[in-house]
Amino acid sequence: MRTTVGIIGGGPAGLLLARLLHRAGIDCVVLEARTREYVEQRQRAGMLEQGTVDALREAGAAERLEREGLVHQGIELRFERERHHIDFPALTGGRTVTIYAQTEIVKDLVALQLADGPPLLYEAEALAVEKPESATPVVRFRHEGRERTLTCDWVAGCDGYHGVSRDAFPAGTARSYAHDYPYSWLGVLAEVAPSGDELIYARGERGFALHSMRSPTVSRLYLQVPNGTDPDDWPDDRIWDELAARFAIDGDWTLHRGPIMSKSVTTMRSYVHEPMRHGRLLLAGDAAHIVPPTGAKGLNLAVSDVRVLARGLTRLHRTGDTQLLDRYSELCLQRVWQATRFSDDMTKMLHAQPDGDAFDHRMQLARLRRITASRHAAAELATNYAGLPLPV
Ligand code: APR
Ligand code: PHB
Repeated sequence: MRTTVGIIGGGPAGLLLARLLHRAGIDCVVLEARTREYVEQRQRAGMLEQGTVDALREAGAAERLEREGLVHQGIELRFERERHHIDFPALTGGRTVTIYAQTEIVKDLVALQLADGPPLLYEAEALAVEKPESATPVVRFRHEGRERTLTCDWVAGCDGYHGVSRDAFPAGTARSYAHDYPYSWLGVLAEVAPSGDELIYARGERGFALHSMRSPTVSRLYLQVPNGTDPDDWPDDRIWDELAARFAIDGDWTLHRGPIMSKSVTTMRSYVHEPMRHGRLLLAGDAAHIVPPTGAKGLNLAVSDVRVLARGLTRLHRTGDTQLLDRYSELCLQRVWQATRFSDDMTKMLHAQPDGDAFDHRMQLARLRRITASRHAAAELATNYAGLPLPV
């Protein structure tokens, strides 16, 4: 097989890139290791920055998102049994965020891709990227029991954190930076109306809790739990009691309880791979970086990488100009490090440190108090949460 851009991975990064390239008249092929059903069922995050919504609109993939997405005007911070609203439009010159599940984005992109898009092969597992330094890099992959090759002008490594693209960087050409956090999140999806209109980030002595949602009838909730936690140790009643305790305030507020449809534990890690390009291989999304979910940046970063990549490839295709592609890694990494910093700050400010002392606890409260007392500090949070400007 031969194509202009070989895309490894059919998650949000790979699928969005395929749509943007298709619209620009650039041919591509997407290789996805899993089945369509698996990819469409996977529970992931769901908070979209304005720039992410714009990118999906630009790709012609925002029709259902515009109908069903829940526009949010801010978030709530809870600590010391108080609630504080952070008003995004007032603090950022009118910006909002949108709740729309990543799985729904994937479904929308897959439907478009299968209707009129370039080929999307399921159960096509990339084994290796070969000759990334040459003019025609090759992706070796397994499909329908046979080993095959895809020869490309460019390869986009959109294969997530556990993909193979990163392995094609020869020793000495890349460096990675990683940090593991000493806690995990137990995430549940519950068939019950959200207990309020906003996301609630709660910090308490018993640990962090997050109230989010998927629709007017489905809530998404998270609890900080120790690393190594088995979800089976958390029967539904224990989850609801713990959530109620962590969200408790002095004043009127009730947590809505309902049937829990799924439960899973996620570890928390920051990871950045530098650079994001080697020869004609370009990494995008989780393949190049992951962040802890507290800042809701994972999906948004993947989308901003893809935007830069699609623009770089489109400019090359139309004018022969490689300038943007040459700066791809540098442009993306500036934003990646800022999002990593923001996610790390939010994570450390809101989680109970397993080995933390009374001083650490006071520092967290002082940080939260500063945000709720100073418009300037609140604006800093709101600006980062709603999304820093795109580099191009
Ligand atoms: N060959 C083909 N496909 C692969 C391979 C491989 N060797 N390895 C992994 N994949 C596929 C995975 O099955 C997955 O569908 O690549 C896809 C990567 O998708 P994601 O992990 O969703 O990563 P990305 O598209 O970068 O999306 C960004 O935002 O909310 C965050 O982490 C969350 O997934 C999310 C991310
Ligand atoms: C989610 O809705 O799943 C979600 C929202 C905000 C976060 C993390 C996850 O910070």
